[in-house]
Amino acid sequence: MKNVLTIGMALALAGVMAGLSASTAFAQGNAAGVIQYRQKVMSAQSGHLGGIGQILKNGLDFTAHIPQHAQAIADLAKLIPDLFPDGTQKGKTDALSEIWQDRDDFKDKARALETEAAKLARVALSGDASAIGPQVKKVGKACGACHKKYRQPKKKRYAWKKK
Ligand code: HEC
Repeated sequence: MKNVLTIGMALALAGVMAGLSASTAFAQGNAAGVIQYRQKVMSAQSGHLGGIGQILKNGLDFTAHIPQHAQAIADLAKLIPDLFPDGTQKGKTDALSEIWQDRDDFKDKARALETEAAKLARVALSGDASAIGPQVKKVGKACGACHKKYRQPKKKRYAWKKK
């Protein structure tokens, strides 16, 4: 019994250490990689939302795909808070420092996107075509609500690309 406990504690400690070494490895200089990765995830969000937009705008016979795109947005929304760890405030990024000052609100905004996108997936599955458009707008608003507060305003975006 005592051995089992000891093994359990050793495993728990190993888990904590693994977590620690992961975060120190990151601190040792992969901030640029994290920034690039999160921009890819955001681009993926944009691809899914844009795809839905194309289906609707052009009346494509792909409305059955909308739930998958919406679910993908909801799933990726869960990752957003993790994509902005300490140490990635500066560099080739349009993220504003407010993210790190108001983490709880930032997380709430990611959660709001998750909620609206999951709702879109349900609405699209329900077959009520008239409800899809308005719910897509709500998803777009959830993206915008976060960008407004936590991303460089349009004019200042991608300034780091010009350097
Ligand atoms: C919780 C906050 C938040 C939400 C929600 C959010 N974004 Fe973003 N997004 C950001 C931040 C912050 C950046 C800037 C990231 C950077 O440059 O490091 C960004 C950047 C982007 C970019 C630019 C990526 C690049 O290559 O530079 C696109 C495109 C984008 N978001 C699309 C979306 C779409 C579409 C949605 C909704 C489906 C969305 N975002 C939801 C915070 C958010």
